[in-house]
Amino acid sequence: MIKVVKKIPELKEIIKEWKKEGYSIGLVPTMGYLHEGHKSLIDKAVSENDKVIVSDFVNPIQFGPTEDLATYPRDLEKDSILCENAGADIIFNPEPEEMYNDNFSSFVDMNTLTKGLCGKTRPTHFRGVCTVLAKLFNITSPDKAYFGQKDAQQLAVVTHMVEDLNFNLEIVGCPIIREEDGLAKSSRNTYLSDEERKAALILSKSLKEGKALIENGEKDAKKVIDLIKSLINTEPLAKIDYIEIVSWPTLEPIETIDQKILCAMAVYIGKTRLIDNVIL
Ligand code: PAF
Repeated sequence: MIKVVKKIPELKEIIKEWKKEGYSIGLVPTMGYLHEGHKSLIDKAVSENDKVIVSDFVNPIQFGPTEDLATYPRDLEKDSILCENAGADIIFNPEPEEMYNDNFSSFVDMNTLTKGLCGKTRPTHFRGVCTVLAKLFNITSPDKAYFGQKDAQQLAVVTHMVEDLNFNLEIVGCPIIREEDGLAKSSRNTYLSDEERKAALILSKSLKEGKALIENGEKDAKKVIDLIKSLINTEPLAKIDYIEIVSWPTLEPIETIDQKILCAMAVYIGKTRLIDNVIL
């Protein structure tokens, strides 16, 4: 069975031995409840590194006060099987007190990239993400760390943080993994009722239409956003948080589509907030 490590000193000791042997280390940071999307990250990490650590930690400081920290799905046993089958070496599954002791008071924050998109409705989210990732990078000293493009803003933010703070590792972005019908894989999909699961398809469907419009030559970002909005509004269970087109990876709002762009959305289906995007 794959080794589950709960304590930071124990993990550091193992990593010290790995480094002595000259092994390369890949880190896949997750909040657990692993699915095919995570598996694709672990597969890539396994193919590119001698040793792979999957962190499995529901990070309390990236949740806002009214968000789903308490109900976030957890299943360490199932995660262990997936990690083992994928060929990972260690699951790092600390308790919150192991990561944030009573004296904890240092945070990593970012002035750019974190204010728009998800940052608008989740103002403290990226501070929590950057802080936990800085800790995980320091604890595990990976050569490479793997992130899904589904959280495109997170991918841009962490890439920027690594550059700003001179972390000695490479950030590897990996494509979105979707269900057969197009819904982007997410641990939060488990919150959806059958009816909501069907309704959630409107995210990927509308994005696809937006993408087609751009590929057919539409340069006006507003027209693309309006089309996507009108499609989403046909779904009674959907409520738009945001739909935006921004430059990639600088995340600046744009009016004319004449460069690499991220078209991103967050939409509530019932009470569940889902995100999806396309980079073009
Ligand atoms: O994408 C996630 O699951 C989390 O934001 C991460 C990167 C593991 C940090 O807690």
